[in-house]
Amino acid sequence: MVNETAVREILSKIEDPELKKPLTELDMIRSVEINGGNITVGVTLTVPGCPLKEKISRDITEGVGALDGAESVRVEFDVMTDEQRKNLRAKLGFSQPSQSQGPAPVSYAKRFIAVSSGKGGVGKSTVTTNVAVAMARLGYKVGLLDADVYGFSIPHMLGVEGRPTMIDDQIIPLRKGNNIQVVSMGFFINADEPVVWRGPLLHKAINQFIRDVVWDKLDYLFLDLPPGTGDVSLTIAQAIPSAEMLVVTTPQATATHVAGRVAKMAEKTNLKVLGVIENMAYFETNGQREYIFGRDGGKELANKLGVPLLGEIPLMTSLREGADSGRPVASDGSPEQVALFEQIARQIDGTAV
Ligand SMILES: Nc1ncnc2c1ncn2[C@@H]1O[C@H](COP(=O)(O)OP(=O)(O)OP(=O)(O)O)[C@@H](O)[C@H]1O
Ligand SMILES: [Mg+2]
Repeated sequence: MVNETAVREILSKIEDPELKKPLTELDMIRSVEINGGNITVGVTLTVPGCPLKEKISRDITEGVGALDGAESVRVEFDVMTDEQRKNLRAKLGFSQPSQSQGPAPVSYAKRFIAVSSGKGGVGKSTVTTNVAVAMARLGYKVGLLDADVYGFSIPHMLGVEGRPTMIDDQIIPLRKGNNIQVVSMGFFINADEPVVWRGPLLHKAINQFIRDVVWDKLDYLFLDLPPGTGDVSLTIAQAIPSAEMLVVTTPQATATHVAGRVAKMAEKTNLKVLGVIENMAYFETNGQREYIFGRDGGKELANKLGVPLLGEIPLMTSLREGADSGRPVASDGSPEQVALFEQIARQIDGTAV
């Protein structure tokens, strides 16, 4: 005969796949009924149509079904009431959804790093993804906010699929491993509809993302900004006065020229420029370096700004492939590639004040 304590013991070890906490702790177990060897578990989901319902059901069926004397396991679902959801949010320590656009500073990360380039296609998203992965490998909790409303790409580059859960107005990020959380504005935009963002709308959307995502306490939040970032930088500077700016550039003069503009913007908005990363610095073939896009533009820009050059990333086919296939080289590449991004992450970490 199965007893209820044993069933609840098993349930206390099964986590909600998104909230990463035991079902029992989330008050999601409504009932346990035992009839001889037949066990019925009532589960209350946080939101209707929860995409991970199947997984929860499977975990319970397998776990409880393995108990001595268990013959059948049924899982019955219902959905939390508004009241229950409110209690759960309080229990999880979520803040109330922000009503205001006001400047109340956010504080869920120790450092906020906005990545800018001023010019499209310099590899900003690829660099951001790999640097974030490297930072997570160093043991830090890292968040990635893909705020590029025109060309969101981070979740794909990171190899994360699915849509984030919403609890009321708040967004639970997707996760990769223990240390990486990610949210893209792209999750909430219909990919088939071209979006024209007017300034105020963009300001509002970005503000919402900065305020309404429920990150676990982070060491670093990286924000991938859309190119040509005047307005967005301003929005971020207002919401996160402590944010820092990381500038990604290719070596040629035109790129450094625009990147310079971004840095000036940082000055105007009071965002501190943390450093420069030069991407597509050279291409190495047969031990020879070819400087396809010119040479030392990153160094020049860094000197001009009086900030460190934090790294030079060569053109690498595998960097592009890793981004396309969701296996960033910072974790899945050669030891040299892993070391290259780890070195950059350490340098960034070393700039902490
Ligand atoms: N060092 C590199 N070596 C090879 N390919 C690279 C490198 N850096 C970036 N790429 C590739 O260049 C393309 C553009 O990169 P990415 O999307 O990261 O640029 P971006 O600056 O974020 O662009 P956008 O302005 O459109 O957001 C991608 O296909 C990416 O895989
Ligand atoms: Mg990009």
